[in-house]
Amino acid sequence: MPGLPLLLAAALLSSWAQLWTDAGSWWSLALNPVQRPEMFIIGAQPVCSQLPGLSPGQRKLCQLYQEHMAYIGEGAKTGIKECQYQFRQRRWNCSTVDNASVFGRVMQIGSRETAFTYAVSAAGVVNAISRACREGELSTCGCSRTARPKDLPRDWLWGGCGDNVEYGYRFAKEFVDAREREKNFAKGSEEQGRVLMNLQNNEAGRRAVYKTADVACKCHGVSGSCSLKTCWLQLAEFRRVGDQLKEKYDSAAAMRITRKGKLELVNSRFNQPTPEDLVYVDPSPDYCLRNETTGSLGTQGRLCNKTSEGMDGCELMCCGRGYDPFKSVQVERCHCKFHWCCFVKCRKCTEVVDQYVCK
Ligand SMILES: *[C@@H]1O[C@H](CO)[C@@H](O)[C@H](O)[C@H]1NC(C)=O
Ligand SMILES: *[C@@H]1O[C@H](CO)[C@@H](O)[C@H](O)[C@H]1NC(C)=O
Ligand SMILES: *[C@@H]1O[C@H](CO)[C@@H](O)[C@H](O)[C@H]1NC(C)=O
Ligand SMILES: *[C@@H]1O[C@H](CO)[C@@H](O)[C@H](O)[C@H]1NC(C)=O
Repeated sequence: MPGLPLLLAAALLSSWAQLWTDAGSWWSLALNPVQRPEMFIIGAQPVCSQLPGLSPGQRKLCQLYQEHMAYIGEGAKTGIKECQYQFRQRRWNCSTVDNASVFGRVMQIGSRETAFTYAVSAAGVVNAISRACREGELSTCGCSRTARPKDLPRDWLWGGCGDNVEYGYRFAKEFVDAREREKNFAKGSEEQGRVLMNLQNNEAGRRAVYKTADVACKCHGVSGSCSLKTCWLQLAEFRRVGDQLKEKYDSAAAMRITRKGKLELVNSRFNQPTPEDLVYVDPSPDYCLRNETTGSLGTQGRLCNKTSEGMDGCELMCCGRGYDPFKSVQVERCHCKFHWCCFVKCRKCTEVVDQYVCK
């Protein structure tokens, strides 16, 4: 049967092609700044065909909602920055590579880290679009139309222009999930498991923005008496969204795909994940050594803390390979004096501190 090896080879090739097309992502909108909306000429479709990393469905949405694209890029950038902040002291530090794959090949592993990355970038899009609506930057949305909260004191006004998180959520769902919905893998296949994982984590990210949004108020009234208040819906600082998703990362649920094409818990004694929880399907690599296949950058050369016993400590960060000390000069403001009136004058002090990098 000479046909069989050929078929196998074709199957392998197509799965490679899948990997390669997956390597590009809308995340790359964060790297190639999208032109400001006013630069778009209505109906100028070439813009959308030139943006790298979009799936066919996302390209269509781009054509319909061109003015949204700059905000999607901004949202992705916010998400990436937050990811790097949350993981700054860990072996995998959410570093990006300078091409369309953005996070490199590590995203091909359905790990906890990948789960976090999908969630935080989906959250970034909700955040950016919701604010853009409030600021009047988009023609298809405006201020939030959320109903007045029931527990708001009766004499406070529900008015001001709030962040339009309903619109941001809906748009992000359309756009971010589009690329997953286009895929058509066999039910119960590993690839389908990965699609379900991505969808769940995108949703968890969007909900984190929704959940952290809160009521903000402003006082009015004679000479600041605050006898009158106007209130509106306001998104939280993105740091709070990041913190919340980091907690979800720590408690993420290990799942596997069933033959019927549903995700189920690997360990059925744990609680079923809610739509706000992160899920993953593959164990994480240890991220210790540089590995071209997995895309791990390794921790050689990373700064570590000699006295910490946490992930940022030299023992864990360097994976037991040891570390090299070096002296670094740090400049700080010191001997600050208050001068009448009104400024503070400081001197610059230099201090030599011991630091350590992984071998
Ligand atoms: C992206 O760059 C990395 C290293 O910089 C390289 O290993 C990888 O193959 C590149 N990916 C693509 C899709 O070009
Ligand atoms: C890279 O990772 C793969 C998958 O975990 C492993 O099989 C391979 O041996 C690793 N390569 C190196 C050079 O460590
Ligand atoms: C993350 O770690 C890599 C590899 O060790 C390093 O090259 C990079 O500068 C780090 N990135 C950030 C944002 O700290
Ligand atoms: C190193 O870790 C110790 C113990 O956790 C902590 O007190 C100290 O502030 C850390 N040093 C730096 C430079 O982060």
